[in-house]
Amino acid sequence: MENDSLIAAAWRARDAAYAPYSKFPVGAAVLCEDGRLFTGANVENLSFGLTICAERVAIAGAVAAGVRRLERLAVVADTATPVSPCGACRQVMAEFGVSEVLLANHSETLAFTLEELLPRASEGILDR
Ligand code: THU
Repeated sequence: MENDSLIAAAWRARDAAYAPYSKFPVGAAVLCEDGRLFTGANVENLSFGLTICAERVAIAGAVAAGVRRLERLAVVADTATPVSPCGACRQVMAEFGVSEVLLANHSETLAFTLEELLPRASEGILDR
């Protein structure tokens, strides 16, 4: 799948964001190793800390459908500079092998490896 198609899916998913508190809708789309595509949008809560980011909604959808290996993830928002995933989302991406991350706004797309965004995500952990 082309990056443009993945990003377009993330923009469509963003329409369903539940973001009444921040008024900052975010969309995400994740391409799985088996070729399937899952999308997500942020889901906020009055108890702000319970908010789930778009990226984790998309990943949880894939994992709940039985997927374990993910390839590429796109996240989009209407920002001046492309939105950057939070640390928790980066860690969850690492768990399921996301290797490439696309960050897009309406005018620009930045591409990163997950290693660039979260170096040494799993080095040494439980390595006894
Ligand atoms: N948010 C995401 O969903 N993904 C990101 O990459 C950045 C932030 C959401 C969480 C919250 O609903 C709102 O954007 C403001 O932080």
